[in-house]
Amino acid sequence: MSVSDQDYQLFVFALKNSSKYDFSQYSEKSLKRRILKVLTDHNLTITSLVSRIKNDPLFVEQTVKEITVNTSELFRDPQVWQSIRFNLLPRFKNNSVINIWHAGCSTGQEVYSMMILLHELNLLEKARIYATDINTDVMDAARLGEYRYRFNLTYLDNFDKVIKENPYNYDEYNDVAYEKYLSLDKANDIIRMNPFLRDKPVFKKHDLVTDNNTMYVKFDLILCRNVIIYFNYNLQCRVLDLFHQNLYDTGCLVLGLHETILGAHAFKFQKKGHAYFKN
Ligand SMILES: C[S@@+](CC[C@H](N)C(=O)[O-])C[C@H]1O[C@@H](n2cnc3c(N)ncnc32)[C@H](O)[C@@H]1O
Repeated sequence: MSVSDQDYQLFVFALKNSSKYDFSQYSEKSLKRRILKVLTDHNLTITSLVSRIKNDPLFVEQTVKEITVNTSELFRDPQVWQSIRFNLLPRFKNNSVINIWHAGCSTGQEVYSMMILLHELNLLEKARIYATDINTDVMDAARLGEYRYRFNLTYLDNFDKVIKENPYNYDEYNDVAYEKYLSLDKANDIIRMNPFLRDKPVFKKHDLVTDNNTMYVKFDLILCRNVIIYFNYNLQCRVLDLFHQNLYDTGCLVLGLHETILGAHAFKFQKKGHAYFKN
């Protein structure tokens, strides 16, 4: 079974006309897969899906949550976090305040990774962390800061790579206890982030398609990882403009490992390692 071009158009236009959500500039291929999942999970035809979207605002909210892809991981792509640790965050050590925006934060693992690193570098206190997503359910999970233990053993491997090891000096090993940042409740299969981390970020609903900077501050660092991969070129440009306008001149943007800046926007940023600095 697949979603035809016509079904896809019907879905996108119904959503756009009956709500504030506009998915017309998402990458068609992955959005079609997500629409198919909604149809299958709810046992709906495209006609009944479109009709519910037009008539049921609560169903619209639920559908938007179901079509977003929310995969995340603590210290996802550890080599990127090693670079953030050794090459990026030290640049901000003389700042009185460090403003950081996680755009598309999903269930929060990226936000906790950043806060752990900042704490290791004695920078957490002066950091202001803003974490946003279009999907409020994933942000509720982020606020809770609880993850499955057995399903996520890679989190601890990644923690070791980024926090304990130094890829630039293999003789150096910092034996940082996990308990400094999280508790492992193996009996109940839970990794729980410690309260001083959970209480720190400001979580806020924000739609990268339609919203401007609703945090009303400029940023030293913006992370938007594994989000624009789901957007078409025009929407990527819109989002890159938004980030460019809201970074300090010394600020930088970190995208996902497999995301790059193409076209005219490539001239607005300069890539150094895993970060894009404002030109
Ligand atoms: C794959 S997750 C990435 C999570 C995290 N940044 C990471 O790399 O581990 C993509 C997130 O982008 C969010 N997202 C998708 N469209 C969005 C939009 N228009 N505005 C804000 N967030 C959006 C999704 O809800 C999802 O939580």
